[in-house]
Amino acid sequence: MIILGIESSCDETAAAVVQNGTVILSSIIASQMDTHCKYGGVVPELASRMHAEAIVPVVDKAVQKAGITMEEIDGVAATRGPGLIGALLVGFSFAKAFAWARHLPLAGVNHLEAHISSLGLMDKPPAFPFIALVVSGGHTNIYHVTSPNAFELMGQTRDDAAGEAFDKVSKMLNLGYPGGPIIESLAKKMDPDKIKFPRSLLDKKSFDFSFSGLKSSVARYIHVHQIESQEDTAQVAASFQAAVIDVLTTKLMNAARFKGCKRIGISGGVSANRTFGTLLSERAGKEGIQVFAPPIDLCGDNAAMIAARGFTMISQGHTCDLNHDVFSRTRI
Ligand code: KG4
Ligand code: ZN
Repeated sequence: MIILGIESSCDETAAAVVQNGTVILSSIIASQMDTHCKYGGVVPELASRMHAEAIVPVVDKAVQKAGITMEEIDGVAATRGPGLIGALLVGFSFAKAFAWARHLPLAGVNHLEAHISSLGLMDKPPAFPFIALVVSGGHTNIYHVTSPNAFELMGQTRDDAAGEAFDKVSKMLNLGYPGGPIIESLAKKMDPDKIKFPRSLLDKKSFDFSFSGLKSSVARYIHVHQIESQEDTAQVAASFQAAVIDVLTTKLMNAARFKGCKRIGISGGVSANRTFGTLLSERAGKEGIQVFAPPIDLCGDNAAMIAARGFTMISQGHTCDLNHDVFSRTRI
């Protein structure tokens, strides 16, 4: 079954063609980064307008690159939420029209479930059950995933998402947007333990996160120590990153132990952080727990993960009709 996937929940207009939920025939991503980075974050109104301009050419390109004709598409999957309403509306309305015109089934995909499904696109995906972390600019959620359709939410952030903390600290250090990749590369040569930033909510009984205290602590440090040199900036970046990674890793290990689970999968933009992946693998390996992370181009927002999730939904008859609408917030 060939599924056309469409993603437009934030600042990427993406389309992909995926066969049987596992083989990526094409995956096109039109990023709006250059526009939004001038403002230090995503401007919703601009995002919607740019999605509207990009959607048709991006879908055309995905179909062309896949080497198929429109007639060969068996189903359409588009992100229904969570995300920016105006942005979601562009991709989901396009998908509705496409599916209606061609009499195809339509899956309205939950973006968070899709990030977890990106693990299914790996050469060697994790077997069920596994602990999954979705860690991005908007979310930091831990799930116990027992089947392709069973996502038990174990914990989530009570304030900022981990990616949001990376972006805000980057802004404080005048490093630009998005902050994650810049902070990761600056941190590489520094001693992560030199500044001891706080680790929040490490209580074993809670799987929730909190990153706003860490963010304030970094702001205070920058103010008091008047961080200006490149080396001092890199030191703050390294110690901040270490605090985030420490919390994410500790919580994931606690969750795996609590569920007696031997597999952990990470997904979402922050999972592109290879320092995080490496440290997590080291700690998990000591307890015989295997760590799975998608290739970097599937960590951030993409449409291949939407098509992969849509394939499962359509195969099981979980489809949408023209009355279904997008949603900005969710709990899965
Ligand atoms: O999944 P994503 O592309 O979009 C959302 O759904 O939010 O995630 C974007 C987030 C941004 O906050 C960005 O700073 C972060 O992922 N990010 C990283 C890295 N690459 C992207 N954070 C830490 N280290 C990275 N290498
Ligand atoms: Zn995302």
